[in-house]
Amino acid sequence: MAVHSHNHAHDHAHSDGRSDAAARGHSHTHDGIDWSSRLNFLRQADELDAEARAVVARRLVRTLPDKPTVLDVGCGAGGMSVALVEALSARGGGTVVLVDSTPELLDAAAHAARSAATYGTDTTRATVQVRPVLADLATERPVEIAGPAQLVWASNVVHHLPDQRAAVTALVEAIAPGGWLALAEGGLTGKFLPYDLGIGEPGLQDRLSAARAEWFVRMREDTTDSVRLSGGWNLLLSDTGLVDVTAFSYLIDHPAPPKPAVRDWAVDQLRWHDEVAGHLLHPADRRTVKQLLDPQDPAYLGLRDDVFLLTANTVYLGRKP
Ligand SMILES: C[S@@+](CC[C@H](N)C(=O)[O-])C[C@H]1O[C@@H](n2cnc3c(N)ncnc32)[C@H](O)[C@@H]1O
Repeated sequence: MAVHSHNHAHDHAHSDGRSDAAARGHSHTHDGIDWSSRLNFLRQADELDAEARAVVARRLVRTLPDKPTVLDVGCGAGGMSVALVEALSARGGGTVVLVDSTPELLDAAAHAARSAATYGTDTTRATVQVRPVLADLATERPVEIAGPAQLVWASNVVHHLPDQRAAVTALVEAIAPGGWLALAEGGLTGKFLPYDLGIGEPGLQDRLSAARAEWFVRMREDTTDSVRLSGGWNLLLSDTGLVDVTAFSYLIDHPAPPKPAVRDWAVDQLRWHDEVAGHLLHPADRRTVKQLLDPQDPAYLGLRDDVFLLTANTVYLGRKP
């Protein structure tokens, strides 16, 4: 997934490319992905990302005015929502508005964010309001449902919308003058397997990543009314009128030997790779993947001490004049 980001926390489709919900016509997304089935996986990833995201959240809210409104659009299971709540409650409070089109994910995110907002009996922490909003970002304007905000955080959601330029333009519309857009897209493709697993051909990780990159291209192509971008995200942010456009990347680094959460995540990640892109692999690699996913096989990934998680996510920043 060459330009896809958050390389470990997303994207699941059935092998025919359509989710059950989409097949039943109930999907509120446009990418054919059954997001409600991704809840546990997103939660797992949120747990592994928590430390890094806490740093990012503190960095993003540092320059905001008192008691700001922050939007977390495409909030998923709410990992960053929690980080934003905690960052705001440590500096005088504010409001965090969560927006997502998948009810199960929005509920989970709201629950997690509210728990963070009412954390314990620590009276030194300021009040943060949490407001969940169920909305399809491809058809509803954030400014009408959730704005204006001093910070809009959008992590790995824009690339699931048909017209990414229109989506970013609509996010910018929801920003108050002087406020910021923080768009997390792209970065480095995540790794979790050692180069030589001792079975199959060495270098499986790179071939899996290449297969997934191929799947990502098809996912964009198959999104109804999909529109291509004309360049990188920084150019798009400038085109929408934002100034002071910059970017930074943050690392998610859980080295081997893996703690149980990393091991569980790695098994799910491999299973997901297999589901969406396994058919693009050489049959010999498919056999290796099958072995790695078989709890009865001695090579089962869930028993290995040499898996890890290493990835980098890029955050593009721009300020509304
Ligand atoms: C890859 S997850 C990202 C979750 C979280 N922001 C993160 O970075 O971990 C994509 C999220 O976008 C949501 N989403 C997809 N299409 C959407 C749409 N049209 N409107 C609103 N949310 C959407 C999904 O429900 C899911 O929660």
